[in-house]
Parts: sequence; structure tokens; C-alpha cells
Amino acid sequence: MKQYHPLTVAAKRPETRDSVRIALEVPAELQDEFSFQAGQHLPVSVKRDGKTLRRTYSICSVPGDWPLEIGVRVQAGGAFSEYAADELAVGDEILVMPPGGQFHAEPDAGKAKTYLGFAAGSGITPVLSIMATILRDEPDSRFALFYGNRRQSTTMFIDELFALKNRYPDRLQLQFVFSQEDQEFPIAAGRLDADKVRDLYTAFCRGTPADEAFVCGPDTMIDAVSAALVELGLPPEAVHSERFGVPRKTKGSAPEKAAETTGAAVTVVMDGHRKHFDMDPSDDNVVDAAAEHGIELPYSCKGGVCATCRCHVREGEVVMATNYGLEPWEVEAGFVLACQSRPVSAELVLDYDKT
Ligand code: FES
Repeated sequence: MKQYHPLTVAAKRPETRDSVRIALEVPAELQDEFSFQAGQHLPVSVKRDGKTLRRTYSICSVPGDWPLEIGVRVQAGGAFSEYAADELAVGDEILVMPPGGQFHAEPDAGKAKTYLGFAAGSGITPVLSIMATILRDEPDSRFALFYGNRRQSTTMFIDELFALKNRYPDRLQLQFVFSQEDQEFPIAAGRLDADKVRDLYTAFCRGTPADEAFVCGPDTMIDAVSAALVELGLPPEAVHSERFGVPRKTKGSAPEKAAETTGAAVTVVMDGHRKHFDMDPSDDNVVDAAAEHGIELPYSCKGGVCATCRCHVREGEVVMATNYGLEPWEVEAGFVLACQSRPVSAELVLDYDKT
């Protein structure tokens, strides 16, 4: 089972006036465990005023480069992001879990593909890593990035993006879209919604149909962009997406607490050891119920997004309130998000060691 490790902040610098980039030193003995695929994220944990704060941030650096770098957008009232921006200093240690997440590229030097990236705001963080890695590792592939922001001053990683454009002028297309700044050309103004995707695709991808797309942003943007790309002909399995934040629940988006949800005798298998606790029908989810019995299970967002709490149902059955973090094949294979799971069988065995 993955565990948190203390990592030292090696560098920190502002990206924009409301975002920072943080570099984390990974000691040589942990570099295997912290190796990652472009697009994956890092769960981080700090203690503030007696409370544990956990968040998940995408890695913006490319595999093989150390230290690891993450981008943090500062949210007003966001306990972790404000701490990261205002107080966290070079030399401080924070707890970091090895990278995870299914939103990633698998570059292959033999491929010659056309990739699209659609990113909104800090959604650029994993897309930057994916794009830089593909351009580095697939010399015959091309990448077109469509990047939406309110205005240029809030656009993260702008220097890197132009540096990549200079490095790969023939294989990288960059198109910015600003929603709160006048633009000379209408295509560069507005939001990344379905109409904008159709306009951008028509303008930039004529004659070169895309093979795969990577989409990262808030949930409404993801839904609109992904649906438009599928309408334009991309196979659904070629449209990869990563939501940031915890999606707003709309009416009917999550099942009611299932009437048949039961209490259960729960066993968790971690690092080959077994721990037991009883869950009440009134318990909200496996992670919180375990904590009440002094058993700490891995988690970060507790919103069904990051998949830090992913485990395998070895025996029994659960219902999940929501799932934005697991791919269909994982659900079919019996993986669940413990932070969203409640038992519907009297016995439940959850395996954290199965990958
Ligand atoms: S803790 Fe993030 S999905 Fe469960």
C-alpha cells in the first residue's frame, strides 16, 4: 500500500499572482517509488492548527526529471493552497504519497500521432507534463494545445509553453482562449465549451484528424469538451479526462443512499496484514468508519475524484455514491473508491495490495 513520505521543498516560485510552483526533493532511495507517468498526481498532507489537510496536485514536470514539481492555484479560503502560497518555505517538509491516477500518457517513440490537449486554468498542470513528454519521447507525433483562461495574467506556465513552442515549432500548436479579455480574433475569445471546441477543431485540425485528446479542467468543461470531441469523431476511449476539484453534485448525479446498505464486518488487507472493524448502516463510507476505529486508510480528496482510496473488493459487495476516479475496466475488475463505498453485504474484505 502506498504511504506518505516526508519530502523537502527544494524550490518555490510564483507562477502567476494566484498560483505557485513547488519543487519537491525526492531522495535517491525513494525515486523508484516516486517515478511517474506524465499526467499523474501527488497526494499531499500537512497538519495545520491540529487538523490534517489533504489535497492532490498534478505533477507538471516530466518523467525522469528531479525534483518533482507541482503547480498550486491559490483558492480564496483554500486552507492548503493559501498555506502553500504564504507559509510553505524552501527547506520545509511536507508529507507526500507516491504518484497515482489513470490520466496519463504512454509515449512510444514508434508512434506518429496527432494529440489534442484542452486545459482550463490550473488544468494545464498535468496536460503540460503530458505534452512535454510526448514531444520529447515521440519525435514523429504532433500536439495541439487549446488553453482557456480568464486573462493572460492568470495563465499558468506561460514561459514553459512558449519555450516548448520554440523547441518544437513544427510539432506543437498553441492556441489560447481568454474569457475576460478582448481578443482580435473571435476564436481566441470565450470559454472552452462545445461550440468553441467545434470552432477550434475546424480551424486547427482540418486535414489532420486527431488520434487522442487529453482534457483537464472543471467538471462542466470536461463534459462539454469530451462530448464535442466524440461528436467530431474521436472514439470515446481516445478522450482522456481529469477533473480537478470535487465535482458539483447535480440532482440525480449520485444514487440516494441505497436502502439496502447494511452494516458489515469489514476486513482490510494492507501490506499483507489484516485489520478488522465493524461498520454501521449509518456510517457514511469505509474510510471514515475505519478512522473511527483507529484505522487510517489512504485518502486525499474524499470526493470520488483522486482515487487515492482505490482498493479491490476481495469478498462481499459495496455501493459507491459517486465515481469520477476509476476507469470502467477498474470497476469491472472489482476496484472501488473506499471514500465513496458503503457495504451491501454482511462481510466485506478490501484489498489495498492488489494493483
Ligand atoms: S480519496 Fe479521492 S477518490 Fe477517495
